[in-house]
Amino acid sequence: MNNHLKEAVSSAPAKVILFGEHFVVYKNPAIAAAINKRVKVHAQVNDDMHINIKSGEYSLNVHATSNVDPVLTPDSSLSFLYPIFMCVKHVLSEQHNHNIGINLIVDSQIPYGEGLGSSAASCVATVAALYSLFSSRDRSRIYGTAKTMEETIHMNSSGIDCYVSTFGGIVNYEPDRGFNNIGIKKNFTLLIGTTGVKHATGEVVSQVRHFREKNLTLFKDLSSKARIICRRSMNSILEGNEVEFGNLLTENHKLLTLLGVSHPIIEKLIERCLDNGALGAKLTGAGRGGAIIALIPSESCKEISNRLSKGSEKWMLVEFDHIGVAFG
Ligand code: PMV
Repeated sequence: MNNHLKEAVSSAPAKVILFGEHFVVYKNPAIAAAINKRVKVHAQVNDDMHINIKSGEYSLNVHATSNVDPVLTPDSSLSFLYPIFMCVKHVLSEQHNHNIGINLIVDSQIPYGEGLGSSAASCVATVAALYSLFSSRDRSRIYGTAKTMEETIHMNSSGIDCYVSTFGGIVNYEPDRGFNNIGIKKNFTLLIGTTGVKHATGEVVSQVRHFREKNLTLFKDLSSKARIICRRSMNSILEGNEVEFGNLLTENHKLLTLLGVSHPIIEKLIERCLDNGALGAKLTGAGRGGAIIALIPSESCKEISNRLSKGSEKWMLVEFDHIGVAFG
C-alpha cells in the first residue's frame, strides 16, 4: 500500500457569489467569496474494499469496485452524498492498489441545495482528506481534481465554487483572465437567509439562455450594467466602503430580477433585510430559490440579526473566510 497515513481530516468553506452570477456564463466577470461555514471530512482507510460514507443520519456502503449504485443518482434523497462518493471513486482509481476502501464521516455546516457551494466544498474537503492519505497536500492539485469532479456532476460549471473553497478569500473571476484574489481592507459581515426552496442550477441557467435568445438587446444592456457593478464593487471591497458595497448588491439584484431568476420568497427575505437596516441585499447563485445575502453594518449586526431572527425565516451571520481548505 503506498499510503502513508491511515486517517486524515480536512475541511473546506462554503461560498457566496457576491456579484455577476448568470452574466458570468456569457463571458462577463463575477466575484465570489468563501464564508466561515465549513464541511469537515474525516477519512480512514479500510481493508474491506468498501466505500462507507456517513453524514448525520444518512449513510451508504458500496463496494469500492461497483459502478454507481442507483441509490446515488443525483435525484435520490442521498443525492448530497453523490459528489462525495464520486470523489472517493476517482481518487481510489488514481491509486494502484485496488484492495482498499475508505470510511468517511462528513460533518457539514452548509445548507444543501441553497447555492452556497455545499457540493464544491464537499468535493474539496473529500479530495483534500484523501490526498492527505495517499499523496501530498498540494492545493492546486486538490482544486484540479475537485473541479474535474464538479464538472462531471454539474455541467457547465465555471469552477469558481471549487476555486473559492480551496483557496479562500474574495475572488474576482474573469473568463478570459482566470481567478484573482482581491485584498480587503475591512471584513464585512453578511447575513444569509435561506428560502428553503432547493434550486437546480442547470435548469435556471437554461431558462436564462432562453431569455437571452428572446431578448438579446435587453440581455446585452443588463450584462454591461453587471460588468460595471463588478468593477465598482472591487473598489468598494478594496476601500472597505460598506455603503457603496451594499448599494451595489441591491443594484445587482435588480438586474437578476429583470432576468427572471428571483422568487417570491427571495423578494420577501430581501425586503425584510432592507426594512431592518441592511445596507443592501441580493439573491446569490442561480436563484429561483436558494439563498440571499445582505450586508449588515458592522456596528449593528447583532441587533439587526436578533430582530430578523424573531420571524420564521432561517438566517446565518457569516464573515469571509481567508483560509480555504484546511487540514487536521
Ligand atoms: O447556485 P450556484 O452556486 O450553483 O451558482 C450558479 C452560478 C451561475 O452563474 C448561475 C452558473 C455558473 O456556472 O456560474
